[in-house]
Amino acid sequence: NNPPFPAYRGSDKGSFAWDSTVRRWPIILDNVIIDLEKAVEKSTDEAARKEGKAILNAIVDLKNEMAADKALRPIADKEDDTADWNRHLANYFSGTTWFSGTWLFIECYMYRRLHELFRNTTCWRQYDPFNEQKLSTFKGSHNSVFDLARKMPTLIQPMTEEQQEIVYDELIQICLWGNATDLSLLTNMTEEDIKKLQAIEKDKLAEQKKRILVDDIEKLWEKIKSLKGGRVDFILDNSGFEVYVDLVLADWLLQSGKASKVVFNCKTIPWFVSDVMPKDLPILFDSCLDRKFFPGHENRSEEDFEALETLTKRWKSYVDDGKLIVREHKFWCYGLPYWYLKSEAPELFDELRQSDLLIFKGDLNFRKLLFDCDWPVTTPFKTAIGKEMGTEFTNIVSLRTNKADTIVGLRAGLKEELEKTVTPLEWRCSGKYAVVQYNSCP
Ligand code: F6P
Ligand code: MG
Repeated sequence: NNPPFPAYRGSDKGSFAWDSTVRRWPIILDNVIIDLEKAVEKSTDEAARKEGKAILNAIVDLKNEMAADKALRPIADKEDDTADWNRHLANYFSGTTWFSGTWLFIECYMYRRLHELFRNTTCWRQYDPFNEQKLSTFKGSHNSVFDLARKMPTLIQPMTEEQQEIVYDELIQICLWGNATDLSLLTNMTEEDIKKLQAIEKDKLAEQKKRILVDDIEKLWEKIKSLKGGRVDFILDNSGFEVYVDLVLADWLLQSGKASKVVFNCKTIPWFVSDVMPKDLPILFDSCLDRKFFPGHENRSEEDFEALETLTKRWKSYVDDGKLIVREHKFWCYGLPYWYLKSEAPELFDELRQSDLLIFKGDLNFRKLLFDCDWPVTTPFKTAIGKEMGTEFTNIVSLRTNKADTIVGLRAGLKEELEKTVTPLEWRCSGKYAVVQYNSCP
């Protein structure tokens, strides 16, 4: 039941997978070291300092283990998912090394190994090594955050279906480009690049629309238009600005009556630097309600603050009323593609089937949907997500900015057209191009 094409591997010299393994992952671990060193320095608890220093040494060992292309070893902690991880390692990756394994699995494995170091301590069990990075990047999004908050009341006022479609079209694109803020790709993108992609002005969106290589926005509207009090699930990606815009879209779905319930599916452990864990949402709400959180707050108007406070309080009330459910599942932090959803997490598969629409955010979710394979670029999306998800599941849409090689659904000739002016690395991996791919499943 595997796709007929090879999955990407770090052993393919010169590929983005290889670049990640040799260059990007060590930087990601170095950033963890920098933040943890500061936290250890700050701590006055002797036991915490001692454990913290041991973790720092172990991260250096982990980096060396990767660079030396050692064989993957079992996970050595006692968490809910430990046995699952070790079963996957034994069944599918026995004898595999850091470079020879499939890139998707190995990358997930790196985050799981990092997590093990914290879980095996007493004082750092709950420590999120990416928390500081998540917060500081969110701060950098302040202009777009306030712009959207001020705009929101006009977006949810009563309107005709035609007007609603215009609002939907804009919100979907904002939600799509919000995925450009992925902190694990910060090693490639400048802050300026990210700000440009986050901008929410109409003409910028129109400009960016040209870089949506597969555009099912209208097809998706046909589905969303038909919803009355439905259930919409987000398989979330990143914290900070991305989840802020996910909340904006969720809010609009609830306010317009399209949905009566929205479910946010989160990660269980610190994951790919910036991914959302349930605890990140209350942190985000508190940040938005703290008038001193964002830089330049001295110059913000009373209207700005009030707009953001109104919005945030409404979001909090959704959580309290059960209209917005924030939950996690260990399946999202396995190293396996989503082709394994039905066999590895049958109860989750059945539960998600009851949703009217699943919105998969971001690059990693997309890679997992497609088995991270080197598909011919014109392969239909329905084929690439596998039979179970393609035909036995529910409606799904992927909102993804392209940050890895794998891609499907392109019209014939588009790849060749693109490559007259840009390199494959640019359109496939830079995060400046995107896809919106929808599959309906009755
Ligand atoms: O490092 C690999 C990768 O999956 C990239 O494809 C991407 O940069 C990042 O990690 C995750 O991106 P996202 O947050 O959009 O899932
Ligand atoms: Mg992410």
